[in-house]
Amino acid sequence: MTTTISSTPVTVLGLGAMGQAIAGAFLEAGHPTTVWNRSHGKGDALVARGAVRADTAADAVRAAELVVVSLVDQSVSRTVLAPIAAELRGRALVDLTSDTPQRAREAAAWARAEGIDYLDGAMMAYAPTVGGPDALVFHSGSKAAYEKYERTLRALGGKTTFLGEDHALAAAYDLAVLDFFWTSMSGLVHAFALAGAEGIKAADLVPYLVGNDSLLGSLMPSLAEEVDGRSYPGDFANLVMDTAGVEHILHAAEHHGLDVGALRGIKAVADRAIAAGHGGDGWTATIEAVRNPG
Ligand SMILES: NC(=O)c1ccc[n+]([C@@H]2O[C@H](COP(=O)([O-])OP(=O)(O)OC[C@H]3O[C@@H](n4cnc5c(N)ncnc54)[C@H](OP(=O)(O)O)[C@@H]3O)[C@@H](O)[C@H]2O)c1
Repeated sequence: MTTTISSTPVTVLGLGAMGQAIAGAFLEAGHPTTVWNRSHGKGDALVARGAVRADTAADAVRAAELVVVSLVDQSVSRTVLAPIAAELRGRALVDLTSDTPQRAREAAAWARAEGIDYLDGAMMAYAPTVGGPDALVFHSGSKAAYEKYERTLRALGGKTTFLGEDHALAAAYDLAVLDFFWTSMSGLVHAFALAGAEGIKAADLVPYLVGNDSLLGSLMPSLAEEVDGRSYPGDFANLVMDTAGVEHILHAAEHHGLDVGALRGIKAVADRAIAAGHGGDGWTATIEAVRNPG
């Protein structure tokens, strides 16, 4: 265990896979850590490493000025936190439970009404990577709480980031990044299925997918510029041509009896953008159809 010069005591509410990783990272950084979980039987390994187990959430909160929450969603956070609002007053509450921007705003309004200093957050890291140099954690809301506890919160990840004082920002960035992640994962699985239907092993496709992935990464800044400027040049590849390419994939997948729901959705959006006059533009013009679902 690394002992820091000043080790802030921390309480962690919720010991699912993520809550345990969070408490473990605080312990690793030398912070006296109190833990609580609804059901018993979780957290033995943390206790063996020095964590103190509290019998109730209220007892856990009383043990530290900084209270970090990791529960399944924000409605569960409300269920756990509302009855102990009085204990939370005068402490910093950091809820790292993932949910929507709207739920983050509701949580912020609740905390404001209760006089609780509230920082929202989102763990952009897979539980086993928490505490590592590449672990990304988004925070937004109380700047005072972030500045006071930044050093402690950095124990959760080297890429801990404060996005601004709007409490909804952490959830908004989280969901946008996850939107990209899950649609990419679905595309990856579908590509494996299409290749597999032609007798190609998933592993044999990987070197070419990796190349594609770096190409997308290198294009991202200019694609974002197109979106922000609402200008979608299609000089090198236009939407009509790109959509014909999507149709080829769709037909090949249909031929093999694969699910084509996602591909049909992609083509429908592109077709609407073309119908709206964007046929000569680039693929980023489909954002106009995404924004106007009709
Ligand atoms: N796991 C990851 O790698 C990962 C990555 C990024 C973000 N996250 C986010 O981190 C948060 C926690 O995820 P997790 O993986 O730790 O989930 P999990 O393993 O399913 O744990 C859920 C936690 O919520 C508690 N809980 C559920 N319903 C409750 C209720 N009605 N009252 C009190 N406690 C309740 C559970 O308590 P019991 O043990 O008593 O059921 C447990 O502590 C989620 O918002 C998730 O989206 C997780």
